[in-house]
Amino acid sequence: MQPSQCISRLLLLISLIAPLACAVDGNLTSLANLFIGTASGRNGGSGGNAFPGAAVPHGMAKVGIDVDTAPRQAGYIHDNSSITGISLMHDEGTGGNTNGGYGIFPLFPLANCAFSSCPVGLDARKTLRAANVDVASPGYFATQFVNGIKIETTSTRRAGLIRFTYPLEQVNHVVIDLTNDLQRSFEGGSISISPSDQMIKLGGTFLQSYGTDNYMAFACYNFKISASASTPFTSFGTFQSASTSTPANITVSVNSTSLSFPFTSSINRVQAGGLVSFNSSTILARFGISFINADQACANADAEVPTWDWGVVQTSSRNQWEDVLSRVQIDTQVEDATVTELLYSSLYRASLVPANATGENSYWDSPFPFYDALFCSWDTFRTVHPLLSLTSPREWSEIVNTYIDGWLHTGNKSVRFLPECRANTKAGYVQGGSDGMPILGDFAVKYAAHAESLGVPTDDLYQALRETAENTPPDWYRVGRQNTAWKTFGFIPTAWVDPSGSTGLPTREASRAYEYALGDFAVRQAGLALQKPALDIATYANRSMNFVNMWDASLTHDGFTGFAQRRFQNGTFAFSPPDTCSPVDPSPHSCARGTDNNVGFYESSSWEMSFFAPHSMSTLVELMGGPTTFVDRVNHYFDKGYFQAGNEPSFEIPWVYHYANRPDLSALRVRQIVYKNFNTGIGGIPGNDDSGAMATLLTFHLLGLYPVPSSKQLLIGSPFLSSFTLSNNVFNTKTHFIVRNFDKTSLMGTPPAGSRIFVKNLIINGKASESLCWINFDDVVGGGEIEIEVDSDASAAAAAGCGPTPNALPDSLETGGFAV
Ligand SMILES: *[C@@H]1O[C@H](CO)[C@@H](O)[C@H](O)[C@H]1NC(C)=O
Ligand SMILES: *[C@@H]1O[C@H](CO)[C@@H](O)[C@H](O)[C@H]1NC(C)=O
Ligand SMILES: *[C@@H]1O[C@H](CO)[C@@H](O)[C@H](O)[C@H]1NC(C)=O
Ligand SMILES: *[C@@H]1O[C@H](CO)[C@@H](O)[C@H](O)[C@H]1NC(C)=O
Ligand SMILES: *[C@@H]1O[C@H](CO)[C@@H](O)[C@H](O)[C@H]1NC(C)=O
Ligand SMILES: *[C@@H]1O[C@H](CO)[C@@H](O)[C@H](O)[C@H]1NC(C)=O
Ligand SMILES: *[C@@H]1O[C@H](CO)[C@@H](O)[C@H](O)[C@H]1NC(C)=O
Ligand SMILES: *[C@@H]1O[C@H](CO)[C@@H](O)[C@H](O)[C@H]1NC(C)=O
Ligand SMILES: *[C@@H]1O[C@H](CO)[C@@H](O)[C@H](O)[C@H]1NC(C)=O
Repeated sequence: MQPSQCISRLLLLISLIAPLACAVDGNLTSLANLFIGTASGRNGGSGGNAFPGAAVPHGMAKVGIDVDTAPRQAGYIHDNSSITGISLMHDEGTGGNTNGGYGIFPLFPLANCAFSSCPVGLDARKTLRAANVDVASPGYFATQFVNGIKIETTSTRRAGLIRFTYPLEQVNHVVIDLTNDLQRSFEGGSISISPSDQMIKLGGTFLQSYGTDNYMAFACYNFKISASASTPFTSFGTFQSASTSTPANITVSVNSTSLSFPFTSSINRVQAGGLVSFNSSTILARFGISFINADQACANADAEVPTWDWGVVQTSSRNQWEDVLSRVQIDTQVEDATVTELLYSSLYRASLVPANATGENSYWDSPFPFYDALFCSWDTFRTVHPLLSLTSPREWSEIVNTYIDGWLHTGNKSVRFLPECRANTKAGYVQGGSDGMPILGDFAVKYAAHAESLGVPTDDLYQALRETAENTPPDWYRVGRQNTAWKTFGFIPTAWVDPSGSTGLPTREASRAYEYALGDFAVRQAGLALQKPALDIATYANRSMNFVNMWDASLTHDGFTGFAQRRFQNGTFAFSPPDTCSPVDPSPHSCARGTDNNVGFYESSSWEMSFFAPHSMSTLVELMGGPTTFVDRVNHYFDKGYFQAGNEPSFEIPWVYHYANRPDLSALRVRQIVYKNFNTGIGGIPGNDDSGAMATLLTFHLLGLYPVPSSKQLLIGSPFLSSFTLSNNVFNTKTHFIVRNFDKTSLMGTPPAGSRIFVKNLIINGKASESLCWINFDDVVGGGEIEIEVDSDASAAAAAGCGPTPNALPDSLETGGFAV
């Protein structure tokens, strides 16, 4: 924290007669635990797939070590697996190929060996780490092998440094691997060694980890024995396996300076790369990466790490993280230590992706920023983007522009689509709707007035939404939506062949329809915010209510009536048991995208998706039989184990009691699910972090806020903190939240009776709010003071609900909510 900020915060706090603070000493980065979510998912569970290596916020470079055992989507696993290399890029928390993706151009340090018989191959070189030696903090990662070799790394956006410290002052070696990208998906490429300046350039074509396409990536390495000392290589050469059928038989060619493998559309299993040596106990590698070419990778390294100064790079990275983390300020001396660690670790993971690959778009020329790893909008629209909207709108507007720019260049001139899951720079798979839509709708409602100064073209934004809502792509499994079906039927019929010839993977009909409805709501919301024609607004409002068409009102399960189901084109429902694909599904089912998914729901059950209409929850409350039955039904959903904590469709459900006028039950449920599913251990998140989705969900839970998609409304709950301050870098505001009567005894899964957890008053800038259940975005970022008074009286809280006025319940479209 800058001294000036510290003083202004002090004054603010003194004026509130709050505990004297400013204990935060500008070292929030020390509170981020990068190992949360790095457990092995080997037993079928999810370890989280978090990436604990070195990266700057939204950095394209994500440098980290890779283990030799799958699953290892982010390369790293916090166990005793052997290490095969330290590679330059990774994803954060994603699913996709269990072998991982993006682990390109790894280095591997080898101590003394006879140059031409050094163990350069993957199996031969892999090495165990010493016990408990991994160290990670924002901007830095280090580990040590059992043989004593130490590995460290730090990075900038597209470059960085890797340092090997060997136990002995002798001739030591580094392998530069051309072909291994974790997946072994090499389709061709080359390496060239320039011994005169110890530079190595690489380029290759690899497969996406989530999608059918390939991508090209490039790297440039320079080697020295220290930042200030260059010496020639003691030896150098290339290696390659004798044949792709016997990849273990590897030959090192001394003095060879290049290898090239022509592109083949099938995977080339060859192992190949370079080997260099120095007579030194330290070897420092500087790298640059690029999607354009190897020369640009070298230029990136020159530009971003010009002096090879480790301290400069690491301090800069740490400072960038400090800036990001400080956008949510708390008094770390006062708040619960576990909550503090969870909060800052989550805020850290929340800003790892999307990756800022601006300047690295090899597909089209554009003045817009280019972000990669939109992996996937399905995962991130719920909580990742809404958190960016609160505290990082500058970064967010660049990311929103990357969606608009993607739309401008996806499809042809007349028929274009928003990107959905850009993974490894190419379109990945579509899971549900086109979920860039709620992201753009959210931006429009929150930042329309500032769009011009943020460089976001709102006419294009709106056009992108409309076209994505109207057009049907040739293959809606890659981008866009099956709008022919949606517009013809008002649902997505099962077993229906699209007469337009458009194809996709004809599954997930019910869950896709729910997301299409929300997508149409996003168009409606953007239309309102951007003053588009009333007919548009009415049309998309109507279409957004079509989720009711999936409602089979006659279906009863566990004593509850009415469930979402697939339908045939004649309107008849296609039955599947509502608990299918829930965590307690009595019979195994495939619940993913493939044609073996014959239930109509994607990674979720009918029990769960039946709660998904965040824009018109009142409709669901009515369909389910009114508030009392609705509450019973939500309780039953949790009690029976239908809640799937580890995946996105469940995110909002602990909060939906609000819509039955029972925010007290949401407060209790959020405590329960946080303490049951999240902790600071390596297995501390219940599912894949999914590009920060879990991290941002937890952040919202802890702050006592939950965002309603494509709207300015946030549900308000019972924070896990006695106070916090949100900074917004567009409005230049700091909004101070203070929880009056905050009670640490409420910080457990089942708060004891009498603990003060229930919101009794919400006071916004000195004025009592009409609602105890929601708060407007403008207030959350308005720079004022929000007081949340909590109380212990459960029955008073149940009786008070959201408040006495009609406007107290959070908005629903059907009951006139989300008005102009
Ligand atoms: C931040 O805190 C960590 C852990 O307490 C400490 O090692 C580090 O030196 C601190 N850094 C700064 C810049 O104060
Ligand atoms: C690695 O850890 C696993 C699980 O904790 C254990 O079963 C195994 O024995 C360990 N292996 C080694 C080589 O330490
Ligand atoms: C390994 O490759 C070399 C050179 O191509 C060859 O002479 C040798 O027979 C191979 N060894 C095995 C075990 O395949
Ligand atoms: C490699 O090149 C060096 C320097 O030119 C030379 O001394 C050495 O004999 C060469 N080694 C091989 C195996 O060709
Ligand atoms: C490595 O350097 C040391 C001096 O630091 C020297 O004694 C030794 O001969 C060198 N070894 C080789 C192989 O060049
Ligand atoms: C992304 O990279 C571009 C190009 O360097 C830069 O102008 C922009 O500020 C970066 N955005 C963020 C959020 O760091
Ligand atoms: C653009 O793409 C759409 C959908 O694939 C196709 O129907 C149309 O013919 C294409 N138009 C042009 C001008 O290529
Ligand atoms: C929306 O739906 C209502 C009720 O079904 C209907 O009266 C109205 O014409 C529709 N409006 C549009 C623009 O489709
Ligand atoms: C509707 O179509 C399904 C599937 O073809 C069929 O099983 C069902 O009997 C049809 N319903 C009616 C009312 O025709």
